[in-house]
Amino acid sequence: MCPTPLLPAPFLARHIGLADDVWIKADAWTGFGLGGNKVRKLEHELSPRRLEGVTELVTAGGPHSNHCRVTAAAAAHLGLACTLVLNGQPEDPNRGNALLHRLLGARIVTVAGREARPGAMEERAKEVASTGGRALVIPLGASSALGCLGYARAFREIADQLPGGGPATIVVPSSSGGTLAGLIVGMALHGTPWPVLAVSADDPAGEVKSRAVSLAREAASFPELKPLPTETIEWVGRGVRVTDAYVGRGYGVPTPEADRATELFARKAGVVLDPVYTAKAGAALIHETHGPGPVVFLHTGGHPALFR
Ligand SMILES: Cc1ncc(COP(=O)(O)O)c(C=O)c1O
Repeated sequence: MCPTPLLPAPFLARHIGLADDVWIKADAWTGFGLGGNKVRKLEHELSPRRLEGVTELVTAGGPHSNHCRVTAAAAAHLGLACTLVLNGQPEDPNRGNALLHRLLGARIVTVAGREARPGAMEERAKEVASTGGRALVIPLGASSALGCLGYARAFREIADQLPGGGPATIVVPSSSGGTLAGLIVGMALHGTPWPVLAVSADDPAGEVKSRAVSLAREAASFPELKPLPTETIEWVGRGVRVTDAYVGRGYGVPTPEADRATELFARKAGVVLDPVYTAKAGAALIHETHGPGPVVFLHTGGHPALFR
């Protein structure tokens, strides 16, 4: 994948009273399948070695999942079948990611709740095997130890792009924790922990952090990396603060702070946030980063949610 731009946002910084620079890492522009953070993760999940003999990709998410959209696009691109296990029906399947899941040709299996998703994915994998095919089951959000390596690489990219090489405070939306895990591995490999504010879109902060640190620990043991001691991951993890103070009434439910962040990013930086993840992280940036030092806002994509 080509590096995404690191955009300066001087008018936004000035408007919210920050003396130092604000940068926006434009990972909404990862491009493939309409972009977002899942592209970086799937690049590692769908390596040629893992795809040997595979005939179908199987994954899961909500009825408007960004991850499912990019997985369906990857399957179409690779000439593979795709099954998406989705908990619940979209209000209107002709809008947002629900429309794109269907447009990209995915077969959709609807289950009643989140807890039914893993079983339904395994069942589909068995069905595929029984007809002579092979399914690759991709975990929720592509947040495996392998997938999160995409964000270890993204951290390196940010450090290379930032004038002076950093450090900066990274503000990042979080849910399954894979993006955050990758940043932790990236910082550990770099040898310098940067301050990180991870902003939950749904789950309690403690859960998001422990998922991220445990994925990072697993990824850090891969022989293809310079394997890292667990203590290095723990040390970097200590510099990460996760907040769930911007979730409001729940996943995808708008809040006044997130709406204001959306308006400010649009009008003061020309950058459009999504309502589910980046708007809430934008609200955290406005309320909680007071310097000193520059801030990097990691824009993880999710634009189809504006049109659902
Ligand atoms: C647009 C967007 N931003 C952020 C996230 C959170 O990333 P992670 O699940 O890696 O914590 C997601 C995940 O669903 C997403 O779709």
